[in-house]
Amino acid sequence: EEAKKIVLELDSSLPEATRIKIKQTPEYRGKRIIIQGWVHRLRVQGKDMTFIIIRDGTGFLQCVLTGKLCKTYDALTLTLESTMKIYGTLKELPEGKKAQGGHELIVDYYEVLGKAAGGEEAFSAKLNAESNADVLYDQRHLYLRGETASKVMRVRSVTLRAFREFFEKKHFNEVTPPLMVQTSVEGGSTLFKLDYYGEPAYLTQSSQLYLETMLPSLGDVYCIADSFRAEKSHTRRHLSEYTHIEAEQPFISFDDLLNILEEMICDVVDYVLKSPVGEYVYELNPDFKPPKRPFKRMEYAEAIQWLKDHDVKKEDGTFYEFGEDIPESPERKMTDTINEPILLNKFPVEIKAFYMKKCPEDQRLTESVDVLMPGVGEIVGGSMRISDLVELLAAYKREGLDPKPYYWFTDQRKYGTCEHGGFGLGLERFIAWLLNRYTVRETITYPRFIGRCMP
Ligand code: 4AD
Repeated sequence: EEAKKIVLELDSSLPEATRIKIKQTPEYRGKRIIIQGWVHRLRVQGKDMTFIIIRDGTGFLQCVLTGKLCKTYDALTLTLESTMKIYGTLKELPEGKKAQGGHELIVDYYEVLGKAAGGEEAFSAKLNAESNADVLYDQRHLYLRGETASKVMRVRSVTLRAFREFFEKKHFNEVTPPLMVQTSVEGGSTLFKLDYYGEPAYLTQSSQLYLETMLPSLGDVYCIADSFRAEKSHTRRHLSEYTHIEAEQPFISFDDLLNILEEMICDVVDYVLKSPVGEYVYELNPDFKPPKRPFKRMEYAEAIQWLKDHDVKKEDGTFYEFGEDIPESPERKMTDTINEPILLNKFPVEIKAFYMKKCPEDQRLTESVDVLMPGVGEIVGGSMRISDLVELLAAYKREGLDPKPYYWFTDQRKYGTCEHGGFGLGLERFIAWLLNRYTVRETITYPRFIGRCMP
């Protein structure tokens, strides 16, 4: 009751306050500012002092309330995650107290804009450290406010920019292909079916075929779009919806393709490390070492031999033989043991997609590549594409694909064909590697996997 009588008033004799973001605070030392954000932490120290760490999406700032300011009803009932508008003067902290960015805000006035629920409904009760994974996914919208999650999302944001910068530097055009399609790219088993005004359609598995159609129009092209895969098992690195960074180039060789992959990955890492979120990489992944060029190049046949030499067997106790797919677990074992990026290449025709070009020197193999990273395994899949019309028609037949819905893709081979190739990189896997996250589910805002499409 006492507290309710205390009314705060703006002191008009103080210098004019500038509304800024926390990120800008280093330029505003000694000045009067306004910050708006969420109460991240709260510490009451005796009757006359309260510390609030405020968060605005650009950083954290310690705010100090003294005297009357910490005796109001709002101050006494303040809860974590409430929103506030805070006026004060930025004071530089003495050496050795640099933890909060070297300064704190000496508050002279504030308003509580939206008080967060308290008691049983309090933020911390919804989301405590003991919560199991399922509860955390149910509360993902709240979990994302946490320090680790927001660092991961910030690195993700800068990484997207880094990829765009790389493609810009290389004179690629960005395109936005359709995500509702009537053709499969990577086989029928993982297609999400869709009722398209009564007609069957799918959510796209990859924008590759559409990128290929853009080559004669725009030359080198790329897209950053979601791809969808109805993956029926739970793994650390599979999502039902993921962000796919895909690129396609005309008139290149297989070697050009391998080279640009290396260059892109190294450039993007470099960009992120030099950015303001670079420190988060080392915070979340203290042992991180930027990869060095050239990456190790290993043919599929060598990988099969490596698995034999290292006694890595199938569940039935036999060895993997040439022509068999190398699943996630042995692939991870090999990559983790070698412990450096690998350009695994020249996979056999029978385990790869219909559109892949065969190796001129060995028709059993394709000019294909997976980039494997320690801790995650495959982060990129790419290849040279069939450029010959007759060969493409034979490939449809071999894979049992009806060529009819692919007529527009086939036309690319009819009207000015060329050697070309490209790749797709899974952004979530790239971030999982960069930040050493256990699963790709932590590197996306709202993960989608079998059994989860909410929130
Ligand atoms: O190897 P994939 O299937 O290749 C393609 O889709 C090609 N058409 C791409 C192209 O050449 N334009 O997928 C490419 C990458 C994988 O290396 C992986 O990083 C990611 O996409 N990926 C997934 N990421 C998360 N969850 C899934 N279910 C994924 N499936 C593929």
